[in-house]
Amino acid sequence: MNTPIKIKIILGSTRQNRFSEKPAQWIFEEAKKLEGAEAELLDLRDYPMPFFDSPISPSMAKGQYPNEVVKKWAEKINDGDAFIIVAPEYNHGYTAVLKNALDVIYTEWNRKPVGFVSYGSAVGARSVEQLRQVAVELQMAPIRNAIHIPVDIFFAAMMGKGPTGSEMFEPIRKGSMGDPVERFFNDLLWWARALKAAREI
Ligand SMILES: Cc1cc2nc3c(=O)[nH]c(=O)nc-3n(C[C@H](O)[C@H](O)[C@H](O)COP(=O)(O)O)c2cc1C
Repeated sequence: MNTPIKIKIILGSTRQNRFSEKPAQWIFEEAKKLEGAEAELLDLRDYPMPFFDSPISPSMAKGQYPNEVVKKWAEKINDGDAFIIVAPEYNHGYTAVLKNALDVIYTEWNRKPVGFVSYGSAVGARSVEQLRQVAVELQMAPIRNAIHIPVDIFFAAMMGKGPTGSEMFEPIRKGSMGDPVERFFNDLLWWARALKAAREI
């Protein structure tokens, strides 16, 4: 019970000039400040997995994956107690590279919470809603609170206006209904602790 909660932050875009690096780095720095938790950033660029083509479903593979990169990915996900997915929105959905990373393994995701950091012209809400459906099938617990980066912050960054570092996200913490980042982490850690204890029974 006293071992730290391992939070893995997954960067959901691999494209050149991606914006996702900025919110991923920011939320990673914030997660590192949490007591009783350890955070690690997982960049899908470091896991160039094949487009899923296994003869059997990962849900039947009992954690045995023939591809070496998938094996490495599975080990990292298995090590996690909670996940934060930094999710862009592509054509009102989430990215293909992220879906592939979710599909290539299975048991490693099971019975663990996931929260989302998103952005886009509709704050990435459509992408997150779809990801929640996928997470349920992976036997994960998608948490209610998400961090939807306000459109003004996202658009300013797109147009090269305003701050370029993590300070661009600071206004998010000053919400009229309290600090959504604190709520997000409280929610994620509550589920992570509850499910970790349940997995250890
Ligand atoms: C293929 C593609 C489709 C997109 N579709 C949407 C969309 O449906 N909704 C939206 O808000 N933004 C959309 N965008 C704009 C993205 O929000 C923007 O490019 C963002 O920076 C993508 O995240 P990334 O830079 O981390 O990859 C799209 C971008 C691309 C490349």
